[in-house]
Amino acid sequence: MPGGFSFALQLRGGRLELSALHRPGYGPICADWGSTEMRRRIAAGRRQPLARAAGLHKAPLPSVLDANAGLGRDGFLLAALGADVTLVERNATVLSLLRDAQRRALDEPALRPAAERLELLGADAGSVLASGRRWDVVYLDPMYPDDGKAALPSKEMQILRDLAGGDPDADRLLAPARACARRRVVVKRPLKAPWLDGAAPDLSLRGTQLRFDVYLCAAAAAHNSGKD
Ligand SMILES: C[S@@+](CC[C@H](N)C(=O)[O-])C[C@H]1O[C@@H](n2cnc3c(N)ncnc32)[C@H](O)[C@@H]1O
Repeated sequence: MPGGFSFALQLRGGRLELSALHRPGYGPICADWGSTEMRRRIAAGRRQPLARAAGLHKAPLPSVLDANAGLGRDGFLLAALGADVTLVERNATVLSLLRDAQRRALDEPALRPAAERLELLGADAGSVLASGRRWDVVYLDPMYPDDGKAALPSKEMQILRDLAGGDPDADRLLAPARACARRRVVVKRPLKAPWLDGAAPDLSLRGTQLRFDVYLCAAAAAHNSGKD
């Protein structure tokens, strides 16, 4: 494990949980798509920043490749709002949490339709983006490296970063994502973070703590000019 960290995976109460044994004060984490927080986010609908950035406020609903799945919350939100979503995760432990979340969501009538719109791939996003398959939208949410300047991430994100690393190779995904997406690439960034790969987006939707940088594909840019 990176940095001498140690982790334990445990099935508890019917769900798979990950504990960071080197962080004794922290509770276990899991991928939970039925939490109160997720229900609140889903209820916020297609006008919220992530959904608008992905173009869900316009018909037809896009297919989305979430190339940095993590605990799958953003991807599940987009599926719950109607998109067909492919989740890609390269870390095997995180992938097992996602598989467990999808299994539980398929058993839950309120979550089942969205869970059925989710495809889960255990792979490096670079190879999926280069496979020749295409999606309307490619969504990137790499871990933001710990530079000591950004606000401390949630305990959940700290554990995920201990496990999966800081994604120092994130910049390399932007160009293949732009080649793969039919309509747009969306990149989630902390508010003050530099652009991914130093590339200026076509537009940026800003929230209180983060922003979504949107790179329109050539045909979509001509069609959309100034309308997003
Ligand atoms: C910040 S987390 C994503 C959080 C996610 N958006 C959510 O809502 O839970 C980033 C995740 O992307 C994964 N990741 C980073 N680079 C990747 C790559 N090239 N291919 C596949 N997964 C990658 C990491 O392992 C990590 O789990």
